[in-house]
Amino acid sequence: MLPELQTERLLLREVQIEDGPALQAFQNRPEQWRQMAMEPEEFADGTLRVQRYVKHRGSDSSRRLFVYVAHEKSLGKLVGQVSLSRPQPALASLGFSVATEYWRKGYASEMANRLIEFGIEELELHRISADVAIENEASKRVLDKIGMTYEGTARDCIWAQGRWWTEAKYAILAADYERMLVRRCCKNRRTAGSDSRPIARS
Ligand SMILES: CC(C)(COP(=O)(O)OP(=O)(O)OC[C@H]1O[C@@H](n2cnc3c(N)ncnc32)[C@H](O)[C@@H]1OP(=O)(O)O)[C@@H](O)C(=O)NCCC(=O)NCCS
Repeated sequence: MLPELQTERLLLREVQIEDGPALQAFQNRPEQWRQMAMEPEEFADGTLRVQRYVKHRGSDSSRRLFVYVAHEKSLGKLVGQVSLSRPQPALASLGFSVATEYWRKGYASEMANRLIEFGIEELELHRISADVAIENEASKRVLDKIGMTYEGTARDCIWAQGRWWTEAKYAILAADYERMLVRRCCKNRRTAGSDSRPIARS
């Protein structure tokens, strides 16, 4: 079982079989998969999707998959999902989605930030990457906001939904993350005068 993670507004806990119907209710909508290079059928059965995750996630130090659901603390509602997929011990890729009714409230950035922190500080990852359809402006903006670097574009790299997809490649290294923390710390100190409070977690 993965540890629970908190942000200011969200509680993140590992996805469970009983989350299947709620995940299906928001992920099995065209707005969710229209800008993702995946087949819609993959989202048709939420419970089956979680069952597959449990079967393939791996365990302990050889765990490959880390999937969290995010609940808004005050509403108690499931607002999204965020995940890391780790093909090698120090490398992972990030994924996220937010239920349509909660878009543009900063939830994707908040949960993705927290998972990067978990990945680098707890899993000791060296690099976290994210691939996103070139037309997915919302997702690219989230990746920019959380400190990922655009590394290039892979043209026609995936066939899905009956067409080729061109994807933008982003990544953050552990060293980038450390530099970002130092910058935030300096900024906090400047705004708080000589006060040296710990870094606020977003
Ligand atoms: C991508 C997605 C997760 C963003 O979720 P969100 O919670 O709305 O994102 P945030 O509120 O954290 O927004 C982050 C930034 O993106 C911007 N943004 C959000 N939607 C946008 C859009 N459609 N076009 C342009 N910018 C957008 C926000 O304004 C914000 O930038 P700002 O702080 O400078 O204003 C959501 O649109 C989604 O679930 N899409 C479908 C699934 C998907 O594409 N997942 C990503 C696969 S890699």
